[in-house]
Amino acid sequence: DETKTGVKGLVDAGITQVPRIFHVPSPQILRNSVEPSFSKPSLPTIDLEGIDEDPKRRKEVIKEVKDALETWGFFQMVNHGIPNSMLEEVKKAVKGFFEQDDEVKKQWYTRDFSGKRKVVYNSNFDLYTGTVTNWRDSFFCPMAPNPPQPHELPHPCRDIWPEYSSQVMKLGIFMLEIISEALGLDSNHLLDMGCAEGLCLLANYYPSCPQPELTVGTTNHADIGFITILLQDHVGGLQVFYQDQWIDVPPITGALVLNAGDILQMITNDKFVSAQHKVLANKIGPRVSVASFFRTDSVPTLKVFEPIKELLSEHNPSKYRGTTMQEYADHFRAKGLDGTSPLLHFK
Ligand code: SIN
Ligand code: FE2
Repeated sequence: DETKTGVKGLVDAGITQVPRIFHVPSPQILRNSVEPSFSKPSLPTIDLEGIDEDPKRRKEVIKEVKDALETWGFFQMVNHGIPNSMLEEVKKAVKGFFEQDDEVKKQWYTRDFSGKRKVVYNSNFDLYTGTVTNWRDSFFCPMAPNPPQPHELPHPCRDIWPEYSSQVMKLGIFMLEIISEALGLDSNHLLDMGCAEGLCLLANYYPSCPQPELTVGTTNHADIGFITILLQDHVGGLQVFYQDQWIDVPPITGALVLNAGDILQMITNDKFVSAQHKVLANKIGPRVSVASFFRTDSVPTLKVFEPIKELLSEHNPSKYRGTTMQEYADHFRAKGLDGTSPLLHFK
């Protein structure tokens, strides 16, 4: 049925074998499931309860955030202030978008990321450049500083998308203050640099996969911006690369994941790491996730990001030339997801 779209369209059409273009060319890219999972370290979870009222707790959290971003580049947050009922609504709206009639969904389809169309719905943004086609459909929308008009958002997301992104913006601003302090800087340092000027949402839909061992949900990559706040559902499959192995990011009801992006790694001169992560394909599906990217590539600013002067010294000279967020994002998109870091290009 040629009216069907995306990877979901293939599954709906009843395929029982993963088509060749989705096959991972070399298994080394993706998994090492032979290791027993009991011996693996586990990703930190940081409890933000009481942090506003209790200065001692705030200090502890700053230390936990510092440790997590120096080593993992990732952590989970609980009691972050966004109610679970809202997270549930967001996931429901995402399913509502992907599971609506293909005729309606097709109106949102584009491969043009220039910003002419706010919502970009497609499968595999890097279809023509990446090395692996992913078992995933996505839709993307910049939410700040220029939020979409209601009619520019698909019906199932029209109300909840703006509400959720303003909550995420609040949380992100708060965490950027904590992260500034974790770097030994004034709490407003990263905000003054513009790290919360732009926010884009990416909703991912991973249909169930008949042969998950042959393909991947999302190829390993690191995020390109300052920070990402990720909502995942209960299915699982997200893994982060830590100490030479892939570690699960286990679903926790009500939790959000925070990870550092490449530009945070760059401006901290590698003090904080933008870790590689990937999503396994799964027989169980669909899985949905929503990544909220703090990045400014859709903001018309020519601001150059480079290692923060206050963090540099004779013994810690700058490792990077500067870049604008746009130049960085263009480089990332042109390269596609191929398992290598675009940061290397800016050393
Ligand atoms: C991504 O990193 O792009 C997706 C993460 C996820 O689906 O959990
Ligand atoms: Fe990512």
